[in-house]
Amino acid sequence: MQKEQSMRVENLVKNFGKGDSLVSVLEGASFTINKGELIALVAPSGAGKTTLLMMLGCVIEPTSGSMWLGEKKVYENRWLTKDSRKIRRQKIGFIFQAHYLIPFLNVLENVTLVPLTNQVPTKEANAHAMELLQYFDIAEKAYNKPSQLSGGQNQRVAIARALANNPEIILADEPTAALDTERSISVVKMLKKIATEQNVAIIMVTHDDRMLEYCDRVMKIEDKKIVFI
Ligand SMILES: Nc1ncnc2c1ncn2[C@@H]1O[C@H](COP(=O)(O)OP(=O)(O)O)[C@@H](O)[C@H]1O
Ligand SMILES: [Mg+2]
Repeated sequence: MQKEQSMRVENLVKNFGKGDSLVSVLEGASFTINKGELIALVAPSGAGKTTLLMMLGCVIEPTSGSMWLGEKKVYENRWLTKDSRKIRRQKIGFIFQAHYLIPFLNVLENVTLVPLTNQVPTKEANAHAMELLQYFDIAEKAYNKPSQLSGGQNQRVAIARALANNPEIILADEPTAALDTERSISVVKMLKKIATEQNVAIIMVTHDDRMLEYCDRVMKIEDKKIVFI
């Protein structure tokens, strides 16, 4: 099967601040991520992992460079669309360390929130969300609030939510940081399965070397550069 590009960046630079207070985080990153890949992102604390994910997710603006989501160029020294939030809602899925489900919405409403914001018809959004909830074996909880679910169940809901807008790429910032080794391995295996079966790219920040064997490639930030090992 031919590899389909999920995301590409070229010469991506990120600085915070100006003049004397300038902090250089990335000096020029170039790489391509393909659909179906699970990529581990590793680097010491403060090296720029979260900053990189937030740029790839169109949440914070790079300083310069180019960025493609799928085949579409979204950034070249500036955002190429007026509303970068719209790109984010349509093409990116996020998974965080804490699940950040909305407590006063039920499971189904949490999963359909972004698709409905994207003007997907309710019937279609609900049907797709129920399919995902079935895939993660939590469909029977669709009308429960997050507080009525276990931690593991809520995390599966959060992963279902990240998939609900059929993203080009899923960005996961330390999704296993709060879990013990056994649970961490099961989450990472689940992410690998999702990447393959849903043909989506996933970049996952991790500090745990034991997770690396389940990933297709390991991406490192070293001296403000990206290297694959
Ligand atoms: N909004 C910001 N303003 C200024 N500096 C920032 C900001 N966000 C991050 N940084 C700096 O950028 C560097 C990378 O931070 P971060 O991406 O959070 O690293 P990591 O996730 O790898 O721990 C750090 O030196 C941090 O202090
Ligand atoms: Mg971080």
